Amino acid sequence: MNESNFYITTPIYYVNDIPHIGHAYTTILADVLARYHRLLDRKTFFLTGTDEHGQKVQQAAAKRGHTPQEHCDKYVVRFQDLWKRLGITNDDFIRTTQPRHTTIVKKILQDFYDRGLIYSGSYKGWYCVPDERYFTEKDLVDHRCPECHRPVEELEEKSYFFKMGQYQDWLINYIEEHPDFIQPEHRRQETLGFLKNDKLGDLCISRPKKRLEWGIELPFDPDYVTYVWFDALVNYISAVGYLADDEKFNTWWPASCHLIGKDILRTHSVFWPTMLHAMGLPMPKTIFAHGWWLVGDTKMSKSLQNVINPMDMVDKYGVDAFRYFLMAAMNLGLDASFTEKLFVERYNAELANDLGNLSLRIVSMIRRNANGILPDYQEPGEDEKELVDATMTAVKEMSAAVESMQIDKGLAFVITAIREGNRYFDKMKPWALAKTGDLNTLGRVLRHTAECLRIVSGLLYPVMPAKMTELRTTLGIPSDDIMPSITRLSNWKGLQDGATIAEAAPLFPRADPIKEDDAQQKAEPKKAASKNKDKQPVNLVTIDQVGKVKLKTATVIKAEKVPEADKLLKLQLQVGDEKRQIVAGIAEFYAPDQLIGMTIVVIVNLKPAVIKGIESNGMLLAAKKGKALRLVTTDGEIASGASIE
Ligand code: ME8
Ligand code: MG
Repeated sequence: MNESNFYITTPIYYVNDIPHIGHAYTTILADVLARYHRLLDRKTFFLTGTDEHGQKVQQAAAKRGHTPQEHCDKYVVRFQDLWKRLGITNDDFIRTTQPRHTTIVKKILQDFYDRGLIYSGSYKGWYCVPDERYFTEKDLVDHRCPECHRPVEELEEKSYFFKMGQYQDWLINYIEEHPDFIQPEHRRQETLGFLKNDKLGDLCISRPKKRLEWGIELPFDPDYVTYVWFDALVNYISAVGYLADDEKFNTWWPASCHLIGKDILRTHSVFWPTMLHAMGLPMPKTIFAHGWWLVGDTKMSKSLQNVINPMDMVDKYGVDAFRYFLMAAMNLGLDASFTEKLFVERYNAELANDLGNLSLRIVSMIRRNANGILPDYQEPGEDEKELVDATMTAVKEMSAAVESMQIDKGLAFVITAIREGNRYFDKMKPWALAKTGDLNTLGRVLRHTAECLRIVSGLLYPVMPAKMTELRTTLGIPSDDIMPSITRLSNWKGLQDGATIAEAAPLFPRADPIKEDDAQQKAEPKKAASKNKDKQPVNLVTIDQVGKVKLKTATVIKAEKVPEADKLLKLQLQVGDEKRQIVAGIAEFYAPDQLIGMTIVVIVNLKPAVIKGIESNGMLLAAKKGKALRLVTTDGEIASGASIE
């Protein structure tokens, strides 16, 4: 592929799911990245779609008395409609039931089979129906699915296997030699961790039709269909013409970025690279796994009835504000918290206040004091220095942020530039200049503020295309420059002398503050069993005493051996916004790599100590019996910094 081309993908979502904020997030992020790359004048291809085979679809269709295909055709529309509503500019939408996909999956399977890369054998394992995945005994957590914690079934059946295991060393080397391949860094470490600690087995790629009919039939055995993940991953190449349209395929493959959530890291960082390697294809440049959107600090789930429907937010606050919040509030790679309260706070501060005010002030000043005509350009002087600097820094930082996948950081620089615009306005007091009749200075102030607004609106365009189109039109920017190009954004002078500044309604009307988020309300404090107070043995502790020990969840971001101390590991932890270092005596039980990405429990208000010359700030919890030791973790995903109560 031409290095300057940009090919980005989202996961293809299970067609059965009701699209929620998590699906919306990945797709909006891909859209924002695609739009930024178009702004950087790169040829861009943006793919999304739906994953339509498998047991869940078959079951749901049967329940409703539909064929699986009818079921898919009905439900795919929910995704397609949502993407339209959210302003998603995907170039293609692939469905795994389309012949352009199924024929390619079959060709790949036949080719692997002919080359001895697929063989038949017998498989025994624990199967999770909702996740459509097999697990080994060792993978299970409390005898349940390690991914979703639902019950698993034990199955044994004749199966076909892809010889994945033989690529273990190759994959470890590839990941080690290509630091950008799996991102962010802690996900790369996590992948290396499990590749180095476990033997990579072969991958079962078939399901017997007697159990599951809804899939792509194996070309070499009509009694079987293809395992959904083997089918689904191929979408990334079937959509761009693999084995069908060489010119198209060579234009776009290898992909620049497979954007995924951390839930599907392993399928993308292990199954997919080995499949591609077996096909003799180059690897995608980057597989980027972002974190979870949590509601408050809890995982979203149907059973908790806390699933956020993106349409509700969009109906209430508009598409662009919703896109903005998702991009600005998530530090890519870590988990983030969604609540309406947080949403409204950020909306009011950054959009209604900072950006909304600046736009309103400049437009109304020009209309009132310059007949709606943009004053002529004058070279910036000492007064404008900070304004120009902050704005140009935003241009530079935003481009860098797109390359380094730190959209939130880039946006923070844009907001800083907007605040500088407001500060410049306050400092120069154009309303006073209008009164004293200093029209030359007045013109200079209005023009420079307007140039700042042109540039920041261009930088925000990929995130808020509709609102920024409105704003840029108001500023008299010609229609062919509404979608900005980075070259023009890098020039301080860009507006037309004498352009007409149109009347404008407020871009982001203030929203009513939300007092308390339901999801954030603390559970009722547990009532102490006080009835039999007198009978309690003396060594019981009171709830107040327990309350003195502050426990929080922490994510391990780095782990290393302490030199000359066999038992100790030095851990770097993320505890909410805070980083901490602790030294723990667990080196005999855990290899450093195994710990990366793990959520553990830490006492955070323990007096700091120095162990072997290393500062230790807190203590982790572990269960110990005899010679065994296991760390205490949480039952399912929760953000770091969550308090244990
Ligand atoms: O896994 N926060 O599809 P899926 C952030 N069909 N992102 C979230 C999220 C959350 N709470 N919940 C979901 C599948 N996502 C397979 C993929 S790809 C060849 C096959 C996003 O419908 C995130 O991108 O379960 C996650 O990876 C994806 O939705 C899973 O979507
Ligand atoms: Mg899922």
